[in-house]
Amino acid sequence: MLEIAPSVLAAHPLYVARDVSKVIEAGASILHLDIMDGHFVPNFSFGPAMVKALRVEYPNVLLDVHLMLSQPERYLDDFVAAGADQITIHSEIEGDVPGMLKAIRQAGKGAGISLKPATPAKKIAPYLDLLDLVLIMSVEPGFGGQILMPETLPKLKALRSLGFEGVLSVDGGVNLANSHQVKQAGATRLVMGTAAFTAEDPKAMFEALSAE
Ligand code: DX5
Ligand code: ZN
Repeated sequence: MLEIAPSVLAAHPLYVARDVSKVIEAGASILHLDIMDGHFVPNFSFGPAMVKALRVEYPNVLLDVHLMLSQPERYLDDFVAAGADQITIHSEIEGDVPGMLKAIRQAGKGAGISLKPATPAKKIAPYLDLLDLVLIMSVEPGFGGQILMPETLPKLKALRSLGFEGVLSVDGGVNLANSHQVKQAGATRLVMGTAAFTAEDPKAMFEALSAE
């Protein structure tokens, strides 16, 4: 079953509640939350307080937290306490990646790892048994509204060949026009920011995405 995860980064910063309720009413059961530190990526977004507010408002929605942080180990407890369901760290950070993945699972959360476009799938081969989710960045992380980089998509099948059986999520520039290509490449979750929050009729779009 294909999962659609609207990325809250693309909601209007002054009308997040309005925009998020629209995509939830349209049928979204996952929200993707991009956390940015201005260091790992040259941008800022929001923090644990936003996760907590969404947790309280939407107790049954899966909160898929994407940590674009250079030192996620400093904040894992905060995002666990805030109510994240899945926590994804980046494979490119310097810290103890397997240790963090184990800590996320020990906290009862889904553990994910993300690959920037230039990072090969084989880099995370040693960690696959520690993972519930792999997040393939199809744009350089840091900003919504970019164009999907199709050369990142072969990593999906490469990960299946390495034996990974969990969620394969694609993040960045995904829209209705390229969604067939992304699904054919092996994605089981589509992260959609701009496409989800600018859609005239998000319900019709979500249905069209799942129908193909
Ligand atoms: C970029 C974020 C993406 C982004 C997706 O660093 O990780 O989740 O918000 O937004 P769109 O779909 O607009 O590319
Ligand atoms: Zn993201």
